[in-house]
Amino acid sequence: MMRQSLVVGNWKMNGTRSSSELLAKDIIAGLGSNGADIAVCVPYVYLSAISEIIKNTSLALGAQNVADKSSGAYTGEISAAMLGEFNCKYAIVGHSERRSYYGDTNESVAARFCQAQEKVIIPILCVGETLEQREQDQTFAVIDAQLSAVISLAGIEAFNNAVIAYEPVWAIGTGKTATDDQAQEVHHYIRQDIAAKDQAIADKIQILYGGSVKADNAKGLFAMADIDGGLIGGASLDAESFLKIYHSV
Ligand code: PGA
Repeated sequence: MMRQSLVVGNWKMNGTRSSSELLAKDIIAGLGSNGADIAVCVPYVYLSAISEIIKNTSLALGAQNVADKSSGAYTGEISAAMLGEFNCKYAIVGHSERRSYYGDTNESVAARFCQAQEKVIIPILCVGETLEQREQDQTFAVIDAQLSAVISLAGIEAFNNAVIAYEPVWAIGTGKTATDDQAQEVHHYIRQDIAAKDQAIADKIQILYGGSVKADNAKGLFAMADIDGGLIGGASLDAESFLKIYHSV
């Protein structure tokens, strides 16, 4: 089964308006035509500027989160409708940094996922275990719980328009990448989990790997059967290394 590949940059809370604009322009300049999908998830306040720059290019735009409610008295939150106004194609939900530093739970992540989809924004649902959970052989159980919270709220059909990112927490920003086989094992598990509910969706859904993906380890990871691309943090802040990763897919 040939799935469309996807490489997504997650800029996190980095850069300035001008450095972000420059980064987007440099990425566009090196896109070429490799046929894979590519997107950058930028800080909310730069969505407007970056959406202007990427107009009519194949670089798509995403946000790093989205509110779990549609509108109202939720100070500091940004709704899916607001993201839609800036041509956001994607929104990351449930990134481990949101889960561990900002209290996102499986339930609130599921609500964010649904909010994004209501406004036709594709959620990039992040799942992954901590080092402690891996050492206690809880990896699959943790991922099961993270996935099933979303499936029970959104329904399995919702995964027709969603991306999953497997990001082992111990590999994020640590320089410790999962080996190709370690990552593949979990990607395969995730795809089987989805297949148990809907084989066609499982065959089609893009499952990205994230966690210290760099230009020199991307090719091996992307060659694995169930890895359809990557969610790239640190290495997406440099156009050259991000493009190298993109061209490895
Ligand atoms: P990293 O981040 O590539 O810097 O490890 C990945 C992510 O958190 O999405």
